[in-house]
Amino acid sequence: MKKLLALALALIFCLPFAACGNDSSGSSDKITIGIAQVEEHLSLDTIRESFIEEMAALGYGEDKVEFIYKNAQADQNNLNSICQQFVGDDVDLIVAIATPTAQAAATATKEIPILFSAVTDPVLAKLVDSMDAPGGNVTGTSDYIACDKIFDLALQITPDVQTFGLIYNTSESNSLSVIEEAKAYLDEKGISYVESPVTNTSEVQQAMNSFVGKVDAVFAPIDNTVAKSMSVVTDVSRKNNLPVYVSADSMVSDGGLATIGIDYTVLGKETAAMAKEILEGADPAQVPVRVMSDVSTYINVETAQAIGVEIPQEILDSATLFGNQ
Ligand code: TRP
Repeated sequence: MKKLLALALALIFCLPFAACGNDSSGSSDKITIGIAQVEEHLSLDTIRESFIEEMAALGYGEDKVEFIYKNAQADQNNLNSICQQFVGDDVDLIVAIATPTAQAAATATKEIPILFSAVTDPVLAKLVDSMDAPGGNVTGTSDYIACDKIFDLALQITPDVQTFGLIYNTSESNSLSVIEEAKAYLDEKGISYVESPVTNTSEVQQAMNSFVGKVDAVFAPIDNTVAKSMSVVTDVSRKNNLPVYVSADSMVSDGGLATIGIDYTVLGKETAAMAKEILEGADPAQVPVRVMSDVSTYINVETAQAIGVEIPQEILDSATLFGNQ
Protein backbone atom coordinates (compact mmCIF):
# COMPACT_ATOMS: atom_id res chain seq x y z
CA MET A 1 0.00 0.00 0.00
CA LYS A 2 2.82 2.33 0.99
CA LYS A 3 4.49 1.58 -2.33
CA LEU A 4 1.34 2.42 -4.25
CA LEU A 5 1.02 5.69 -2.41
CA ALA A 6 4.62 6.55 -3.17
CA LEU A 7 4.00 5.73 -6.83
CA ALA A 8 0.87 7.89 -6.92
CA LEU A 9 2.72 10.79 -5.33
CA ALA A 10 5.63 10.38 -7.70
CA LEU A 11 3.23 10.44 -10.63
CA ILE A 12 1.44 13.56 -9.43
CA PHE A 13 4.69 15.42 -8.94
CA CYS A 14 6.26 14.17 -12.09
CA LEU A 15 3.44 14.71 -14.56
CA PRO A 16 3.78 18.47 -15.00
CA PHE A 17 7.44 18.14 -15.91
CA ALA A 18 8.34 16.90 -19.34
CA ALA A 19 11.75 15.50 -18.44
CA CYS A 20 10.79 12.87 -15.94
CA GLY A 21 13.21 10.36 -17.39
CA ASN A 22 10.68 8.02 -18.92
CA ASP A 23 12.33 6.59 -22.06
CA SER A 24 9.35 4.65 -23.33
CA SER A 25 7.26 7.81 -23.72
CA GLY A 26 9.73 9.04 -26.33
CA SER A 27 11.18 11.69 -24.06
CA SER A 28 14.62 10.06 -24.25
CA ASP A 29 17.09 12.43 -25.83
CA LYS A 30 18.54 9.67 -28.01
CA ILE A 31 17.81 9.74 -31.74
CA THR A 32 15.72 6.70 -32.72
CA ILE A 33 16.31 4.85 -35.97
CA GLY A 34 14.00 1.98 -36.91
CA ILE A 35 15.80 -0.55 -39.10
CA ALA A 36 13.45 -2.89 -40.97
CA GLN A 37 14.65 -5.88 -42.95
CA VAL A 38 12.41 -8.12 -45.07
CA GLU A 39 14.26 -11.26 -43.95
CA GLU A 40 17.69 -12.43 -42.91
CA HIS A 41 20.10 -13.50 -45.60
CA LEU A 42 23.83 -12.93 -45.73
CA SER A 43 23.76 -9.85 -47.93
CA LEU A 44 21.05 -7.98 -46.02
CA ASP A 45 22.73 -8.76 -42.70
CA THR A 46 26.03 -7.43 -44.07
CA ILE A 47 24.36 -4.17 -45.09
CA ARG A 48 22.78 -3.68 -41.64
CA GLU A 49 25.97 -4.43 -39.74
CA SER A 50 28.04 -2.17 -41.96
CA PHE A 51 25.43 0.62 -41.65
CA ILE A 52 25.46 0.53 -37.83
CA GLU A 53 29.26 0.37 -37.71
CA GLU A 54 29.65 3.33 -40.05
CA MET A 55 27.04 5.34 -38.12
CA ALA A 56 29.28 4.98 -35.05
CA ALA A 57 32.29 6.11 -37.10
CA LEU A 58 30.29 9.18 -38.19
CA GLY A 59 29.47 10.12 -34.60
CA TYR A 60 26.10 8.37 -34.36
CA GLY A 61 27.00 5.41 -32.15
CA GLU A 62 24.74 3.68 -29.67
CA ASP A 63 25.49 6.38 -27.09
CA LYS A 64 23.53 8.82 -29.25
CA VAL A 65 21.23 6.60 -31.27
CA GLU A 66 18.77 3.91 -30.34
CA PHE A 67 18.70 1.44 -33.23
CA ILE A 68 15.49 -0.60 -33.20
CA TYR A 69 16.04 -3.58 -35.51
CA LYS A 70 13.12 -5.69 -36.75
CA ASN A 71 13.11 -8.50 -39.30
CA ALA A 72 9.89 -9.59 -40.99
CA GLN A 73 10.86 -13.18 -41.85
CA ALA A 74 9.73 -12.65 -45.45
CA ASP A 75 6.14 -12.01 -44.39
CA GLN A 76 4.41 -9.00 -45.93
CA ASN A 77 1.99 -8.61 -43.01
CA ASN A 78 4.89 -8.59 -40.55
CA LEU A 79 6.62 -5.98 -42.68
CA ASN A 80 3.57 -3.73 -42.66
CA SER A 81 3.10 -3.96 -38.91
CA ILE A 82 6.79 -3.36 -38.22
CA CYS A 83 6.67 -0.18 -40.29
CA GLN A 84 3.40 0.94 -38.69
CA GLN A 85 4.95 0.39 -35.28
CA PHE A 86 7.93 2.59 -36.21
CA VAL A 87 5.46 5.28 -37.24
CA GLY A 88 3.52 4.83 -33.97
CA ASP A 89 6.79 5.18 -32.03
CA ASP A 90 7.53 8.31 -34.05
CA VAL A 91 11.12 7.28 -34.83
CA ASP A 92 13.38 9.95 -36.30
CA LEU A 93 14.36 7.88 -39.34
CA ILE A 94 13.34 4.56 -40.89
CA VAL A 95 16.07 2.57 -42.61
CA ALA A 96 14.47 0.02 -44.92
CA ILE A 97 16.70 -2.76 -46.22
CA ALA A 98 15.64 -4.23 -49.61
CA THR A 99 12.72 -3.40 -51.91
CA PRO A 100 9.74 -5.05 -50.15
CA THR A 101 10.75 -3.33 -46.89
CA ALA A 102 11.05 0.08 -48.49
CA GLN A 103 7.65 -0.32 -50.15
CA ALA A 104 6.03 -1.20 -46.80
CA ALA A 105 7.70 1.77 -45.10
CA ALA A 106 6.65 4.17 -47.87
CA THR A 107 3.05 3.02 -47.49
CA ALA A 108 3.21 3.48 -43.70
CA THR A 109 4.33 7.11 -43.68
CA LYS A 110 4.62 10.16 -45.90
CA GLU A 111 6.12 12.23 -43.04
CA ILE A 112 8.98 10.37 -41.37
CA PRO A 113 12.13 10.28 -43.54
CA ILE A 114 12.76 6.84 -45.05
CA LEU A 115 16.18 5.77 -46.19
CA PHE A 116 16.21 2.60 -48.26
CA SER A 117 19.25 0.42 -48.72
CA ALA A 118 20.03 -1.93 -51.63
CA VAL A 119 16.88 -1.26 -53.65
CA THR A 120 17.72 -2.36 -57.18
CA ASP A 121 15.20 -0.21 -59.06
CA PRO A 122 13.66 2.46 -56.82
CA VAL A 123 11.78 4.09 -59.73
CA LEU A 124 10.07 0.87 -60.83
CA ALA A 125 9.35 0.12 -57.16
CA LYS A 126 7.55 3.52 -57.07
CA LEU A 127 9.67 4.75 -54.17
CA VAL A 128 11.05 7.85 -55.88
CA ASP A 129 10.01 10.08 -58.79
CA SER A 130 13.50 9.92 -60.24
CA MET A 131 16.99 8.94 -59.14
CA ASP A 132 18.18 12.56 -59.01
CA ALA A 133 15.10 14.14 -57.45
CA PRO A 134 13.23 11.63 -55.27
CA GLY A 135 10.46 14.14 -54.57
CA GLY A 136 9.01 12.73 -51.32
CA ASN A 137 10.13 11.49 -47.90
CA VAL A 138 12.08 8.57 -49.40
CA THR A 139 15.63 8.25 -50.75
CA GLY A 140 18.54 5.83 -50.36
CA THR A 141 21.10 3.58 -52.01
CA SER A 142 20.64 1.28 -55.01
CA ASP A 143 22.56 -1.91 -55.78
CA TYR A 144 21.67 -1.83 -59.49
CA ILE A 145 24.27 -3.19 -61.85
CA ALA A 146 23.84 -3.85 -65.55
CA CYS A 147 23.32 -7.61 -65.92
CA ASP A 148 25.07 -7.47 -69.32
CA LYS A 149 28.31 -7.57 -67.38
CA ILE A 150 27.27 -10.79 -65.66
CA PHE A 151 26.24 -12.41 -68.95
CA ASP A 152 29.52 -11.31 -70.58
CA LEU A 153 31.34 -13.07 -67.73
CA ALA A 154 29.10 -16.14 -68.05
CA LEU A 155 29.83 -16.43 -71.76
CA GLN A 156 33.55 -16.05 -71.11
CA ILE A 157 33.46 -18.91 -68.59
CA THR A 158 30.96 -21.15 -70.43
CA PRO A 159 30.93 -19.94 -74.08
CA ASP A 160 28.81 -22.84 -75.33
CA VAL A 161 25.63 -22.02 -73.40
CA GLN A 162 22.70 -22.09 -75.82
CA THR A 163 19.84 -21.87 -73.34
CA PHE A 164 19.72 -20.03 -70.02
CA GLY A 165 17.25 -20.79 -67.23
CA LEU A 166 15.95 -17.67 -65.50
CA ILE A 167 14.85 -18.06 -61.88
CA TYR A 168 13.30 -15.20 -59.88
CA ASN A 169 10.36 -14.19 -57.71
CA THR A 170 7.67 -12.49 -59.81
CA SER A 171 6.58 -10.30 -56.89
CA GLU A 172 10.02 -8.72 -56.42
CA SER A 173 10.19 -5.63 -58.61
CA ASN A 174 13.96 -5.59 -58.01
CA SER A 175 14.13 -8.79 -60.05
CA LEU A 176 11.64 -7.87 -62.77
CA SER A 177 13.61 -4.99 -64.25
CA VAL A 178 16.81 -7.05 -64.33
CA ILE A 179 14.99 -9.97 -65.97
CA GLU A 180 13.71 -7.62 -68.71
CA GLU A 181 17.29 -6.51 -69.36
CA ALA A 182 18.49 -10.11 -69.29
CA LYS A 183 15.96 -11.13 -71.94
CA ALA A 184 16.91 -8.19 -74.15
CA TYR A 185 20.59 -9.18 -73.87
CA LEU A 186 19.88 -12.83 -74.70
CA ASP A 187 17.56 -11.94 -77.59
CA GLU A 188 20.24 -9.76 -79.06
CA LYS A 189 22.84 -12.53 -78.81
CA GLY A 190 20.42 -15.10 -80.22
CA ILE A 191 20.60 -17.20 -77.03
CA SER A 192 17.36 -18.80 -75.90
CA TYR A 193 15.96 -18.92 -72.37
CA VAL A 194 13.46 -20.75 -70.22
CA GLU A 195 11.79 -18.98 -67.29
CA SER A 196 10.96 -20.59 -64.00
CA PRO A 197 9.37 -17.91 -61.84
CA VAL A 198 8.65 -18.61 -58.15
CA THR A 199 6.48 -16.87 -55.56
CA ASN A 200 8.25 -18.03 -52.40
CA THR A 201 11.24 -20.05 -51.15
CA SER A 202 9.34 -23.36 -51.07
CA GLU A 203 9.07 -23.30 -54.89
CA VAL A 204 12.79 -22.86 -55.57
CA GLN A 205 13.72 -26.56 -55.51
CA GLN A 206 11.05 -27.44 -58.04
CA ALA A 207 11.99 -24.51 -60.27
CA MET A 208 15.64 -25.54 -60.25
CA ASN A 209 14.77 -29.18 -60.96
CA SER A 210 12.68 -28.10 -63.93
CA PHE A 211 15.83 -26.69 -65.58
CA VAL A 212 17.73 -29.98 -65.47
CA GLY A 213 18.23 -31.34 -69.00
CA LYS A 214 16.58 -28.25 -70.53
CA VAL A 215 19.12 -25.47 -69.99
CA ASP A 216 22.91 -25.19 -70.08
CA ALA A 217 23.22 -22.57 -67.35
CA VAL A 218 21.01 -20.63 -64.92
CA PHE A 219 20.86 -16.91 -64.18
CA ALA A 220 19.38 -15.40 -60.99
CA PRO A 221 18.97 -11.63 -60.51
CA ILE A 222 19.39 -9.80 -57.13
CA ASP A 223 16.37 -11.68 -55.82
CA ASN A 224 15.76 -12.03 -52.06
CA THR A 225 13.86 -15.31 -52.44
CA VAL A 226 16.57 -16.99 -54.49
CA ALA A 227 19.31 -15.55 -52.23
CA LYS A 228 17.57 -17.04 -49.22
CA SER A 229 17.44 -20.45 -50.98
CA MET A 230 21.03 -20.67 -52.21
CA SER A 231 21.68 -23.98 -50.41
CA VAL A 232 18.91 -25.63 -52.47
CA VAL A 233 20.06 -23.90 -55.66
CA THR A 234 23.65 -25.00 -55.09
CA ASP A 235 22.61 -28.54 -54.36
CA VAL A 236 20.77 -28.90 -57.69
CA SER A 237 23.59 -27.09 -59.49
CA ARG A 238 26.34 -29.36 -58.15
CA LYS A 239 24.39 -32.60 -58.56
CA ASN A 240 23.63 -31.82 -62.21
CA ASN A 241 26.76 -29.96 -63.30
CA LEU A 242 24.64 -26.90 -63.96
CA PRO A 243 26.47 -23.53 -63.77
CA VAL A 244 24.43 -20.94 -61.84
CA TYR A 245 25.33 -17.30 -62.47
CA VAL A 246 24.04 -15.00 -59.76
CA SER A 247 23.98 -11.27 -59.05
CA ALA A 248 25.50 -10.70 -55.61
CA ASP A 249 28.73 -11.64 -53.84
CA SER A 250 26.81 -13.38 -51.02
CA MET A 251 25.08 -15.64 -53.55
CA VAL A 252 28.52 -16.72 -54.78
CA SER A 253 29.80 -17.29 -51.29
CA ASP A 254 26.64 -19.39 -50.71
CA GLY A 255 27.55 -21.62 -53.69
CA GLY A 256 26.62 -19.78 -56.92
CA LEU A 257 29.32 -20.13 -59.60
CA ALA A 258 30.11 -16.51 -60.41
CA THR A 259 29.02 -12.91 -60.62
CA ILE A 260 30.11 -9.35 -61.15
CA GLY A 261 28.69 -7.22 -58.40
CA ILE A 262 29.00 -4.42 -55.90
CA ASP A 263 30.42 -4.54 -52.39
CA TYR A 264 27.51 -4.48 -49.91
CA THR A 265 29.74 -3.35 -47.05
CA VAL A 266 30.45 -0.19 -49.03
CA LEU A 267 26.73 0.18 -49.76
CA GLY A 268 25.97 -0.04 -46.01
CA LYS A 269 28.51 2.73 -45.40
CA GLU A 270 27.02 4.93 -48.12
CA THR A 271 23.61 4.46 -46.53
CA ALA A 272 25.07 5.66 -43.22
CA ALA A 273 26.56 8.74 -44.88
CA MET A 274 23.09 9.58 -46.24
CA ALA A 275 21.51 8.95 -42.82
CA LYS A 276 23.88 11.50 -41.30
CA GLU A 277 22.89 14.07 -43.95
CA ILE A 278 19.20 13.54 -43.29
CA LEU A 279 19.53 13.57 -39.50
CA GLU A 280 21.35 16.86 -39.91
CA GLY A 281 18.50 18.41 -41.86
CA ALA A 282 18.78 17.42 -45.53
CA ASP A 283 15.40 16.94 -47.24
CA PRO A 284 15.05 13.38 -48.68
CA ALA A 285 13.03 14.85 -51.56
CA GLN A 286 16.19 16.51 -52.81
CA VAL A 287 18.87 13.96 -51.87
CA PRO A 288 19.66 11.89 -55.02
CA VAL A 289 19.65 8.10 -54.84
CA ARG A 290 23.21 6.79 -54.72
CA VAL A 291 24.26 3.96 -57.04
CA MET A 292 27.53 2.12 -56.43
CA SER A 293 29.93 2.39 -59.33
CA ASP A 294 32.68 -0.02 -58.26
CA VAL A 295 32.15 -3.65 -59.15
CA SER A 296 34.26 -6.79 -58.69
CA THR A 297 34.23 -10.33 -60.01
CA TYR A 298 33.38 -13.12 -57.57
CA ILE A 299 33.97 -16.82 -58.26
CA ASN A 300 33.16 -19.89 -56.17
CA VAL A 301 36.09 -22.18 -56.98
CA GLU A 302 34.59 -25.09 -55.04
CA THR A 303 31.45 -24.98 -57.19
CA ALA A 304 33.57 -24.63 -60.35
CA GLN A 305 35.46 -27.77 -59.42
CA ALA A 306 32.33 -29.67 -58.38
CA ILE A 307 30.62 -29.06 -61.72
CA GLY A 308 33.75 -29.44 -63.84
CA VAL A 309 33.97 -25.89 -65.14
CA GLU A 310 37.39 -24.43 -65.70
CA ILE A 311 37.64 -20.73 -64.94
CA PRO A 312 40.08 -18.91 -67.27
CA GLN A 313 43.23 -17.87 -65.38
CA GLU A 314 42.88 -14.18 -66.26
CA ILE A 315 39.47 -14.12 -64.57
CA LEU A 316 40.77 -15.92 -61.47
CA ASP A 317 43.68 -13.48 -61.21
CA SER A 318 41.47 -10.48 -60.65
CA ALA A 319 38.53 -12.12 -58.87
CA THR A 320 37.56 -12.54 -55.23
CA LEU A 321 37.44 -16.28 -54.65
CA PHE A 322 35.09 -18.21 -52.38
CA GLY A 323 34.93 -21.90 -51.44
CA ASN A 324 37.60 -24.48 -50.63
CA GLN A 325 39.84 -25.53 -53.49
N1 TRP B 1 18.49 -5.55 -54.18
C1 TRP B 1 17.55 -6.33 -53.40
C2 TRP B 1 16.21 -5.59 -53.39
O1 TRP B 1 16.05 -4.59 -54.05
C3 TRP B 1 18.04 -6.57 -51.99
C4 TRP B 1 19.36 -7.27 -51.92
C5 TRP B 1 20.52 -6.76 -51.45
C6 TRP B 1 19.65 -8.58 -52.34
N2 TRP B 1 21.52 -7.66 -51.53
C7 TRP B 1 21.03 -8.79 -52.09
C8 TRP B 1 18.89 -9.60 -52.91
C9 TRP B 1 21.65 -9.99 -52.38
C10 TRP B 1 19.55 -10.80 -53.22
C11 TRP B 1 20.92 -10.98 -52.96
O2 TRP B 1 15.31 -6.01 -52.73
